[in-house]
Amino acid sequence: MADRYDTEETGMSSAAVLGPTLTFLTSLAGTGRALEFAIGTGRVGVPLRERGVPVVGIELSEHMVAVLRRKMDEDMLPVALGDMATTIVPGEFTLVYLVYNTITNLLTQDEQVECFRNAARHLAPGGRYVVELGVPPLRLLPPGQVAVPFDVSERHLGFDTFDLVEQILVSHHLTRDGEDGRYRRGSSRHRYAWPAELDLMARIAGLELERRVADWDGAPFTQDSPKHISVWRKPI
Ligand SMILES: C[S@@+](CC[C@H](N)C(=O)[O-])C[C@H]1O[C@@H](n2cnc3c(N)ncnc32)[C@H](O)[C@@H]1O
Repeated sequence: MADRYDTEETGMSSAAVLGPTLTFLTSLAGTGRALEFAIGTGRVGVPLRERGVPVVGIELSEHMVAVLRRKMDEDMLPVALGDMATTIVPGEFTLVYLVYNTITNLLTQDEQVECFRNAARHLAPGGRYVVELGVPPLRLLPPGQVAVPFDVSERHLGFDTFDLVEQILVSHHLTRDGEDGRYRRGSSRHRYAWPAELDLMARIAGLELERRVADWDGAPFTQDSPKHISVWRKPI
């Protein structure tokens, strides 16, 4: 997956998506340092560093970090290998951020709360924690239906299945690989959470909601927004 990540995610790596993301994060970092939880291949962290923000990463997968290292070395962008819910890196940060739905990779409420606590632990007073996350797509799941398709195209079939009791969503992908027409099957497991649950997690971690918007351009968050970007602040 690490080798395919940057090529498959051209949409998320496009200037149209990354430009507003970087502007948003740069202004919150100010003159301080930024910590990216689950930095992956550095899709966001590398260009943020290039904009002059000192960035440190935490990442579970050494394969993802190996891809990041093709773009930037350790002196410019240090990365600690470990779990973002528990790994501690030295120093204080004005910004901790966790983007692209990645909090859902923590599969229990306890782990997600620990992740909020770990963000708060790294923040300087007045610092911000930013999370980018989809609103659970449950309005698309009528009673009695078990799956919701999210992409039906020539190259890719994607659908989500839900465990409403455990708040688990599994994304299933069938992707056509080569010219022979064969499909590669993959799936990923996520714990979804509503914005209000995240606000309680923030409160448990001693953080206060400062802002919630629908996208990196700052559009208002409404009841129809498919995702949110939330900013919590550590009190001074
Ligand atoms: C969707 S990618 C996002 C990567 C990057 N933040 C971006 O926006 O492109 C999810 C990343 O989270 C990492 N990850 C998953 N669980 C993690 C955990 N508990 N701690 C640290 N990293 C984790 C995965 O290895 C993967 O690199």
